[in-house]
Amino acid sequence: MLNKKVTELLVDQVNKEFYSAYLYLSFANFYEEEGLDGFANWYRIQAMEERDHAIEFMEYIQDNGESVPLEAIAKPDAKLEDLIDPLKEAYEHEQYVTRLINGIYDEAYNVKDYRTMQFLDWFVMEQCEEEKTAGDLVKKFEMFGTDANNLYALNEELKTRTYTAPSKN
Ligand code: FEO
Repeated sequence: MLNKKVTELLVDQVNKEFYSAYLYLSFANFYEEEGLDGFANWYRIQAMEERDHAIEFMEYIQDNGESVPLEAIAKPDAKLEDLIDPLKEAYEHEQYVTRLINGIYDEAYNVKDYRTMQFLDWFVMEQCEEEKTAGDLVKKFEMFGTDANNLYALNEELKTRTYTAPSKN
């Protein structure tokens, strides 16, 4: 049986992960409309990973005998004007998600919920990767994005990303 506060935070994280998916789909749509199909592909796959994260949280909560009421998902609110904007927004968003995961970890630690801490360990390391990948994309765009040929090459590179289901278990 999970602690009430820990359960609330885990359930909220389900919503936050679905919001991340929705946010990244809005980035994919932005790039699709700008003719950058590689960038769009990248964020559509990122959205699929976020949906996977949401389901991982859902299953963990259910495996512990708690229910998962699904709340409305907020409208993505990122202001997108320049081509670099989604990349910067994504980097900031991943830092925010890291703070959320750490917040759940803090609460689990406080109540000696070792099981939830162990469940969250994968997400703690995943956030390291998510922040690095998002930060690297910002750096790459800053270096290469203003030159048309380089932007084309970067778009082609991002087009090669394929979806792989998570392999945490
Ligand atoms: Fe679910 Fe991008 O972290």
